Amino acid sequence: MNRDDALAIVNQYVKNPNLIKHMLAVEAAMRFYARKLGEDEEKWAVAGLLHDFDWEIHPTMEEHPAAGEPILREHGVPEEIIRAVQSHANHTGIPRTTTMEKALFACDEITGLITAVALVRPSRALFDLKSEVGKE
Ligand SMILES: [Fe+2]
Repeated sequence: MNRDDALAIVNQYVKNPNLIKHMLAVEAAMRFYARKLGEDEEKWAVAGLLHDFDWEIHPTMEEHPAAGEPILREHGVPEEIIRAVQSHANHTGIPRTTTMEKALFACDEITGLITAVALVRPSRALFDLKSEVGKE
């Protein structure tokens, strides 16, 4: 399972461009932290890219992401990544135990925050954000 395989799954199940952008953002953040921590960048990136793949077909807390689990398995996604996808949602009750699982949860949250901050800027664009706190 590489990035191209994961992107094919995303393109099969997701049509909303904003949801795709969100998953690409989480992929990028996961890639950054894998590199920073000396972990498997491709594996972490795939987990980030796939984490919300079933949201459009399973748009309820009862279904997402649990009902997507067998779909990922059918596509040959490794169990380690499937578990990370399941554990990113608190309501599954699956504890986050590995560094990748904890990173996926954190990257999901931080990319959402960054997007929200960008949307309240006049330009509504990421390029308008400053990377240093307290400097405008
Ligand atoms: Fe997400």
